[in-house]
Amino acid sequence: MPRKLKSPYLPFGDQQTAPWYGKDILSVKPFTRADLDYIFGVAHDMRIMVERIGTFDLLKGKILANLFYEPSTRTSSSFMAAMQRLGGAVIPISEVKYSSVAKGESLPDTVRTLACYVDVIVIRHPEVGSAALAAKYAGKPVINAGDGAGEHPTQALLDCFTIREEMGRLDNLHVTMLGDLKYGRTVHSLARLLTRFNGITLSYVSPESLRMPHEVMDEVAEKGLPQAEHTTLDKVLPATDVLYVTRVQRERFEDPLLYDKVRDAYIITPDVLAGAKKEMIVMHPLPRVTEISMACDEDPRAAYFRQMEYGLFVRMALLAMVLGKA
Ligand code: NCD
Repeated sequence: MPRKLKSPYLPFGDQQTAPWYGKDILSVKPFTRADLDYIFGVAHDMRIMVERIGTFDLLKGKILANLFYEPSTRTSSSFMAAMQRLGGAVIPISEVKYSSVAKGESLPDTVRTLACYVDVIVIRHPEVGSAALAAKYAGKPVINAGDGAGEHPTQALLDCFTIREEMGRLDNLHVTMLGDLKYGRTVHSLARLLTRFNGITLSYVSPESLRMPHEVMDEVAEKGLPQAEHTTLDKVLPATDVLYVTRVQRERFEDPLLYDKVRDAYIITPDVLAGAKKEMIVMHPLPRVTEISMACDEDPRAAYFRQMEYGLFVRMALLAMVLGKA
């Protein structure tokens, strides 16, 4: 078969020999530095292909089930767009109230059902461990699009890809995570993933009640990265290369009064950014509520909208990889 694209990542070859063929993506834990370089290489080629030709037939004939038990705009639509840009089709199930879930069907049975019809399942669910449970019953690759306050591996991958594209490197960076570090699953995955790079310093800025979980900090410490916790941003901001802002995860609070106490703990404004480096970026997995003022959006350091776009390329890469096409 003639090669349509001169890329070492998209060989149009024998599926079974592709290194990620049939694998689940449940956590960032298994990824090595070499894996990350590979994924970012594929994502980079996906970017070029989208910019040159928009849509192409790498995954023609493949079907994705997009199973969302929690609200989502970016993650669900970027997975759908990713599949469609690769020529594949999507069964979107985001209104689970219209599916048999509303009749009391268990997650294993719903997943068993979808696995009969599709080649890959993307799942978001409010319970930690739900994606792993789904993977047990699917027999098809399962991609975790957020399991409660657990992990959000594809977001962390696109976050690292964003840093690579924006800063030109993933080594020797001071990354400051700010906001709800307790319930924010994106920072749990990102802190773990950043341990794969050299010269990373991590600062965590959060209210006392929303500190980074010990298990994540222990994993980071095991890898020997310097990390420190703060309740205010002012001391760490001048040294920060990447400021990663998160939303206070209202839906995970049992007591609304506790949410009210911390909801506006930090607000990034142009005045705050005046104290930051010229060569730094502000990221946010989005949606934002009040934690970054809209007045920051025009600042060239505001990378959060570009970050959404990088997500498309990374998700295209991941779908192609688990379906044996990259
Ligand atoms: C995040 C999520 O769902 O964890 N959003 C996303 O996937 N881009 C962050 C959030 O909801 O605050």
